[in-house]
Amino acid sequence: MQLTIWPNYLLVITVLISSSTGFQTSAGRPNDLNFTAAQAQAASCDQACQTNLQEGIDGDVATFGSVPFDSSFYATAPNFTNSQPGALLKLQQLNETTLDIPPGTSFFLMQYTSVGLNGSIVPATAFVALPFSADIASNQSSPIRLVAFAHGTIGYVPSCAPSSSYNGYDYFTWEILSYPGYGVVATDYAGLGNNYTTHKYGNPVLNGNDVYYSVVAAREAFSGTFTNQWAAIGHSQGAGAVWGLSENPLVASNASGKYLGGVAVGPSARLYDILTLANPNSGYWPMVKNIFDGLPFLPQPNLLTPTALNRTQLISELQLCFDAISVLNEDLPAWGLVNSTPAITAQNGNAYTAFQNMFGAATGKKVYQNLLVVNSVDDQTIVVNATLKAWNASCSAGNSVHLSLYTGGLSHTQSFPASSPEWLQWLDNQFTSGGTANATGCSISTATPFVSPIGIVNNG
Ligand SMILES: *[C@@H]1O[C@H](CO)[C@@H](O)[C@H](O)[C@H]1NC(C)=O
Ligand SMILES: *[C@@H]1O[C@H](CO)[C@@H](O)[C@H](O)[C@H]1NC(C)=O
Ligand SMILES: *[C@@H]1O[C@H](CO)[C@@H](O)[C@H](O)[C@H]1NC(C)=O
Ligand SMILES: *[C@@H]1O[C@H](CO)[C@@H](O)[C@H](O)[C@H]1NC(C)=O
Ligand SMILES: *[C@@H]1O[C@H](CO)[C@@H](O)[C@H](O)[C@H]1NC(C)=O
Ligand SMILES: *[C@@H]1O[C@H](CO)[C@@H](O)[C@H](O)[C@H]1NC(C)=O
Ligand SMILES: *[C@@H]1O[C@H](CO)[C@@H](O)[C@H](O)[C@H]1NC(C)=O
Ligand SMILES: *[C@@H]1O[C@H](CO)[C@@H](O)[C@H](O)[C@H]1NC(C)=O
Ligand SMILES: *[C@@H]1O[C@H](CO)[C@@H](O)[C@H](O)[C@H]1NC(C)=O
Ligand SMILES: *[C@@H]1O[C@H](CO)[C@@H](O)[C@H](O)[C@H]1NC(C)=O
Ligand SMILES: *[C@@H]1O[C@H](CO)[C@@H](O)[C@H](O)[C@H]1NC(C)=O
Repeated sequence: MQLTIWPNYLLVITVLISSSTGFQTSAGRPNDLNFTAAQAQAASCDQACQTNLQEGIDGDVATFGSVPFDSSFYATAPNFTNSQPGALLKLQQLNETTLDIPPGTSFFLMQYTSVGLNGSIVPATAFVALPFSADIASNQSSPIRLVAFAHGTIGYVPSCAPSSSYNGYDYFTWEILSYPGYGVVATDYAGLGNNYTTHKYGNPVLNGNDVYYSVVAAREAFSGTFTNQWAAIGHSQGAGAVWGLSENPLVASNASGKYLGGVAVGPSARLYDILTLANPNSGYWPMVKNIFDGLPFLPQPNLLTPTALNRTQLISELQLCFDAISVLNEDLPAWGLVNSTPAITAQNGNAYTAFQNMFGAATGKKVYQNLLVVNSVDDQTIVVNATLKAWNASCSAGNSVHLSLYTGGLSHTQSFPASSPEWLQWLDNQFTSGGTANATGCSISTATPFVSPIGIVNNG
């Protein structure tokens, strides 16, 4: 088909026009707010904390770049009420010269209906990145191969939407899919971008729903453009979402097309194992607390000291995203984590287990299609023993999961691009075979560096 002709779209595609008023360098984003010393002190954030906070905010600003946050796009569509899961609500194309994405790629913002807590419908947003033309190997005149991408941790407040970043929050992630010609639909997850519901951070079941319905909506937005077959890949939080997706009975139906399987790199699948095995000195604790804030019916863990708890108000006041959140408690003993007593350990263990049973992945559920799991043995965020437990639990339940371990010092973030030769081949095999490749049961392989990069510094 001719990719330059778009007459059949149900939506009027509006093109965001760059103008002298449209793109200021830093204003125009809700997370570009400057804090005052008094505001920080009111949240128990003293001088050392303020220095870290400013550095973290600078990091967040760099994550999003100079693209303004389009509040009217992220606002809930008037026709969200009574819509069906997977319904397309809004679609608009951005002028990609204002972005930093692979040249020739076109970039769309999409709002659609997903399913949140207790089966309620929720609005979610995503971006769709289309290649200039389809992969030659899959025949240029063929439809575009569709892959859903699920991003890693970026924060939990609405301003932290990957689709609002100058590069779709690429950190050597989704763009790798554009070069071989995949069409990428990348959900923000509900609650990031749109504020109708709170983001359900690190929730494989609900984040997996958001991935699934992004595919249904993208098919409506670009009718006839994509292959019926589709696959998914995610990193970290998103790898947990892909694992959750692979256990979602929806993928066994044909409503989204034929799901070929997924790739999970550094998966946040089993919360209990990840948190009890991980290094406790980490900036993730405010994020972990937020997982439970959104699920008040579960047993709640006791995680943050009073000082660290006071500081969490800055996350919503200043719309902090991951760079700022991760350094917010760096100056505190044990990064603001409470001193563990046996009672607290038991309380937190109960909370993690309850979460894992209800919303986790790799807890013994059926996996409906093949799953390739990748983990660096040196990953300090998702430690390899947690992923080994997840693999073992899923395989013990009779599923077909291949685990590929990477040696050589790769960090949590580095393992995604470093393993791309393997997962690109795996995806191609799935598309070529119609999903039957690699349906060979459970196995583990180990990849070692051909030549170790001399510059690998593992910062987690
Ligand atoms: C919502 O409204 C847009 C037009 O603004 C329309 O294109 C879309 O199909 C509608 N979606 C639903 C589910 O009604
Ligand atoms: C896209 O942006 C470029 C550079 O600012 C500009 O020259 C071009 O006219 C814009 N295209 C549209 C359709 O607005
Ligand atoms: C924050 O401060 C910087 C300079 O330090 C300034 O450029 C920017 O406009 C300020 N942002 C807001 C929202 O006032
Ligand atoms: C949600 O976002 C809309 C605009 O998108 C804004 O008008 C509204 O104030 C926001 N609500 C909250 C509670 O922040
Ligand atoms: C949602 O489900 C949970 C767990 O089943 C339940 O405890 C809670 O009351 C439900 N919330 C609503 C608003 O229905
Ligand atoms: C590409 O697909 C078209 C239409 O299905 C077919 O006619 C053509 O032979 C294919 N070309 C190659 C090189 O496979
Ligand atoms: C999905 O489609 C395939 C054929 O493409 C068919 O064999 C299968 O039964 C369908 N599954 C469902 C649940 O409709
Ligand atoms: C937390 O904030 C409250 C109210 O601002 C304050 O009274 C309290 O002393 C703070 N706690 C700590 C440990 O800083
Ligand atoms: C990981 O598990 C292996 C085998 O059970 C064990 O020998 C090793 O000490 C564990 N490593 C860590 C860091 O817990
Ligand atoms: C693997 O799973 C089986 C069955 O659940 C369990 O008995 C075994 O202890 C697990 N092994 C490890 C290393 O976790
Ligand atoms: C299975 O996946 C691996 C990558 O993990 C790939 O190297 C291998 O070729 C695949 N096997 C088949 C039969 O497709």
